[in-house]
Amino acid sequence: MFTNEIVIDMGYAQTVIALHGKGVVLKEPTVVALARQGKKVKFYASGFDAKRYMRGRDRDPLAVLVHPVKGGFIEDSDAAILMLKDFLRKALPKRGLFSPRPEVIATIACGTSVVERKNYENVLAEVGLKSPILMETPIAVSSQLSCDYNLIATFGASVSDVAIVGPSGIITGCSVTMCGNAIDEKICAYIAENYRLGISPARAEELRTKIGSFYSGQTMSADVSGRNLVDDSPAQAEITSGEIAPMMTSVLTSFATVVESVSMMCPEKFILDVYNAGITLCGGFAFSDGVADFLGDRLKMKVLVPKNPDEAIALGALAFFDDRDRMYKML
Ligand SMILES: Nc1ncnc2c1ncn2[C@@H]1O[C@H](COP(=O)(O)OP(=O)(O)OP(=O)(O)O)[C@@H](O)[C@H]1O
Ligand SMILES: [Mg+2]
Repeated sequence: MFTNEIVIDMGYAQTVIALHGKGVVLKEPTVVALARQGKKVKFYASGFDAKRYMRGRDRDPLAVLVHPVKGGFIEDSDAAILMLKDFLRKALPKRGLFSPRPEVIATIACGTSVVERKNYENVLAEVGLKSPILMETPIAVSSQLSCDYNLIATFGASVSDVAIVGPSGIITGCSVTMCGNAIDEKICAYIAENYRLGISPARAEELRTKIGSFYSGQTMSADVSGRNLVDDSPAQAEITSGEIAPMMTSVLTSFATVVESVSMMCPEKFILDVYNAGITLCGGFAFSDGVADFLGDRLKMKVLVPKNPDEAIALGALAFFDDRDRMYKML
């Protein structure tokens, strides 16, 4: 079935592209391998291919791996355009001469400024996606929920959103930087201080997703390699779940206080509805072991995690193509 209705959820870690009638058609790391010489930009690969290219033996020595999106906005427009062009080529069916103009919903963080929205629109126009609908991530998620009023948190790699969403859109909400990357930076600092070992945030993330847990009894361990900070020699250390847990709980405890502040701004007449509906937690971080129990315990509310929390934003936005009246009321 041909479809011209597209959703793009482009985050720091991952880009999800979904097509109406098909669902998720692309889920790849938001990275590009490119080389810059003066004003010239040479594109090599995007997503998984970019990571493979950078590990390859005959890569251009000038090539670097760029993350074009960070903190909920496009930091590097040139790189974002190159990456999106390649992703769309991979994900979309070939367009004919008489194919209808694609319609696009692009998801954004709640706190995206007017300038950042404009920049996002320009980037999409450059890849042939004109007049996009920009949709805040909690609104996207709300389409899949059965209650009218919902407290929605999307916890990502570089930005997290918390909002109360009702039938007319966001009632109150904000974007914060308590997110996966913040934990990974703390893990890097901990390992540097305690093991004199320098590791990259990407290694810290691998470690966290492998052995990190919010359950205090977890006893998993894993080796992590990096550079000895004293003599720069290759070195490694064995890290346990118990060592990672304080970094995870400290960021999530701060996040819980943000959720509390947002709930406190909820108009009184909706409080009971919101409380009964519980918190819906999405974003890749919602896969973390024990995160729903941890947050639920702190906030004394039930926390619901959809089956594929990293796809829930894109799929939620996609569902709005079937209910445009509802969508326009919420934006
Ligand atoms: N299985 C997993 N267990 C624990 N954490 C995970 C898992 N999979 C992904 N994550 C974490 O989820 C985060 C990425 O989530 P997501 O894909 O929603 O972010 P993003 O949309 O790319 O980023 P952002 O929206 O913040 O710019 C990362 O911090 C990653 O480590
Ligand atoms: Mg995201």
